[in-house]
Amino acid sequence: MAHFPNTLAFSGILKPLRFEGDILDMELEGVIPPELNGTFHRVHPDQQFAPKFDNDQFFNGDGLIAQFRFRGGKVDFKQRYAQTDKFKLERAAGRALFGAYRNPATDDPSVQGRIRGTANTNAYVHGGKLLALKEDSPALVMDPLTLATHGYTDWGGTCHSQTFTAHPKTDPVTGNLVAFSYASKGLLTRDCTYMEISPAGKLVREVWFEAPYYCMMHDFGVTEDYAVFHIVPSTSTWDRLRAGLPHFGFDTKLPVYLGLLPRQGDAKDMKWFKHPNLFCSHVMNAFNDGSKVYFDTPVARNNMFPFFPDIDGAPYKPEEAKSYMTRWTVDYNSRGEDFEKVEKLTSLMGEFPRIDDRYATRNHRYGWLLVMDPTLPFNGPGARASGLRMNHLGFMDLHTGRQSTWFCGPDCLIQEPCFVPRSKQAPEGAGYVVALIDNVVLNYSELGVFDAQAIENGPIGRAKLPFRLRQGLHGNWTDASDLPGWQQSLGGL
Ligand SMILES: [Fe+2]
Repeated sequence: MAHFPNTLAFSGILKPLRFEGDILDMELEGVIPPELNGTFHRVHPDQQFAPKFDNDQFFNGDGLIAQFRFRGGKVDFKQRYAQTDKFKLERAAGRALFGAYRNPATDDPSVQGRIRGTANTNAYVHGGKLLALKEDSPALVMDPLTLATHGYTDWGGTCHSQTFTAHPKTDPVTGNLVAFSYASKGLLTRDCTYMEISPAGKLVREVWFEAPYYCMMHDFGVTEDYAVFHIVPSTSTWDRLRAGLPHFGFDTKLPVYLGLLPRQGDAKDMKWFKHPNLFCSHVMNAFNDGSKVYFDTPVARNNMFPFFPDIDGAPYKPEEAKSYMTRWTVDYNSRGEDFEKVEKLTSLMGEFPRIDDRYATRNHRYGWLLVMDPTLPFNGPGARASGLRMNHLGFMDLHTGRQSTWFCGPDCLIQEPCFVPRSKQAPEGAGYVVALIDNVVLNYSELGVFDAQAIENGPIGRAKLPFRLRQGLHGNWTDASDLPGWQQSLGGL
C-alpha cells in the first residue's frame, strides 16, 4: 500500500504526482509564437514509491522529466521518469530500496554500492542527447524527443569522476559542455574535477583539484578564460551520516572561498580568494576582462536551506535568508586573497537567475529570475519549508538599471524562467521567457510564454495542463535544429 508521509515535503503544494503520459496539442490561451520550434525540458523530484523514511526530503525524489514540444504555434506535452539504476532496481522490487538523501548507510543491503542518483535536478541537451542530472552521480543520457533512457555515461570510458554537476554550461564559441564534479572520488571527499566535453561527447579536458573543505558545490561559473568555484559551508561529515542527520548542515564559522582555475591551466594554477561567511547557491553568469573576474550570484546573509539546518543548532532565520543578486569581483593577478569588490546588483529579492545562455561566459546585459515578496497574500495549502514564496517573475537590464516584475497572483507560484531566443541570430535578450505557473488552489499548471523584454505585461500565451506538476528545479530550451530526428518525431502532424 502506498503511504506517503504527512509532512511538508509530501503534502500541500508538494503532494506527489508520479504521472507519466502524453498530451498532443495542449489547450492554449493567447498566442504561442509560431516561430518557436523546439523543446523545453524541465525536471522535478517525484518519488516513484513511498519513501523508506517519513522524514525524507522532497528533493530525494526520482527525476520526472517533462517535455514541452513547440511546433508552429502548437505545444505537445510528454512526461517520463528518468530511468536511473535506482529507479529500475526499485521498480523491480516494487518498493523503495534506497534510503535517506545522500546517506548510503540507510539503504537496503540488496542495493549497497549501487549508483544512488535520482537525476532530478536538471535536464540539459548536449550534442543531441538529453542529460538528466543530479550532482551526486554520473550524467544519465536520455533521448530528448522520446524521453527513453539510455543509461549513465562516463563519456566513452574517459571520465573517472563518480559524479557530474547538475549545472553545466555550454561554451558559446566551442560548443563544449563545460562541467565539474565534486566528491569525485567518493562521498564526502574533497576531490573535484573540471571537465570539458566536445559536442561529439568526447572528454577533451579533465583537471583534478581539491576544494578547501567538503561542501555542497551546487553550481559554478565559467568565463572565457576561467572556471570559477564558490565554496559555501553547507558541509557534512561521516559523523552526521552515522547520526542520521540531514546530509548537509550549515556552518556559520567557516569562510567562503572563490576559486579561479584558468581553463587552459592545471590544478597548480588554481587560486583561492576568501570572504567572511554568507550563503549563495546558483550562479547567473560569470565573465572576465583580462585577469579581472566577475561572478554574479544571489547572496543571502545566512543559510537559505532550512532542510539543511545550522550545524550548531541555531534556528532558521527567514529574514537572513533573503537573497539579492550580487556581483563579486576578484583579480587573478592580485597578490592578496581578498575579494576586490562586492556589489549588490538589484533590490529584487530572488533566486533561480538565468540569462540568454548564448551569452554565457561573456558580459551579459539581461537577466531573469524568480522574485519573492512574502508580504503579498497567498491562498495555497500548507507552508513552504523555507517560508519563501516564488511569486514573481523578475527582469533586470544591467546596462540601464531597468528592472521589472510580474506577480503571478495569490493562487499561484512560479518556477524557474528560461530564455528562448526569437531565432538563433536574434540579438541578446530578443525573444521570450518560458516559466511554469502552478495554480495551487485549482491544482493545474500552465507554461507561460512572456515577451522577454516586457515580462511585466504577463504571459502572451499559456499552454495549459489539466493537472498540477510538482515543484521542480531546472529546465532548458533546445532549438529544433539541435534535435536529431525532429522531423521524424512529428510524423504526420
Ligand atoms: Fe540548482
